[in-house]
Amino acid sequence: MSDALEVRTGLPEAHRWLLETYPRLRWHDAELGEVARFWLQMHAGFRHKQAEMERHVTVWRTGGDLVALHRGLIPTLQAYLQHLDGHHRVETGHYFPVMRRVEPRITTGIDLLDADHEAIHGHLETLFKAGLAFHQALAGGALDAADRAARLAEVLDRVTPAACRHLEDEEDIVIPLIQRHADAFAH
Ligand SMILES: [Fe+2]
Ligand SMILES: [Fe+2]
Repeated sequence: MSDALEVRTGLPEAHRWLLETYPRLRWHDAELGEVARFWLQMHAGFRHKQAEMERHVTVWRTGGDLVALHRGLIPTLQAYLQHLDGHHRVETGHYFPVMRRVEPRITTGIDLLDADHEAIHGHLETLFKAGLAFHQALAGGALDAADRAARLAEVLDRVTPAACRHLEDEEDIVIPLIQRHADAFAH
C-alpha cells in the first residue's frame, strides 16, 4: 500500500484539502486556537526528544562511551515511549472519533492516521525491547553491551523517520480541522 507510513513521503493528495483551507503559513497567527496550539506543542516535544536521542547516538557512534550513551539516552527513551503511547491513545480514543463526526469527508484521512498509530505502536514495542536489552546488558556488565547499543541505535534510525512522517501528516489534517470546527474542540 503506497500510503503506508514506511513508504509515503507526505500526506497523500486525497487528504490535503483541509490544509488548503488553512495553510501552514498561518499556523503561527494569533487566531490559532488553544487546542491546536497544544497539539503542536506536544508534537514539538516529541521532535525534541527524537533529536536529543539522535544526538546521544551520534556522540556514541563518533567515539563516545557506552556509559554516557546509557545515561543520556535511556531516560529520554523512557519518557518518549511513555508520552507518545499516551498521546496516541488520546488521539485514537478521543479526538479522532470527534473528527470523524464533525468532518465526515476526512474519514479516510483519519483511517490513515489510525493505521499509522498501529504501525508506530509496533515500532515502540521494538524500541522498548531494544532499550531494555541495552540497559540490562550494561547494568549486568555483559560483554555484548556495545552490540545491544548498536541494535538500539539501528531501531531508532528506523523508527524516528516514521514517527516524524506521522507527526507532520497528522498536523496537516488535524490543525486545519480543529480550526474549522473550533466549537467541537472548545474546552
Ligand atoms: Fe498521532
Ligand atoms: Fe499526534
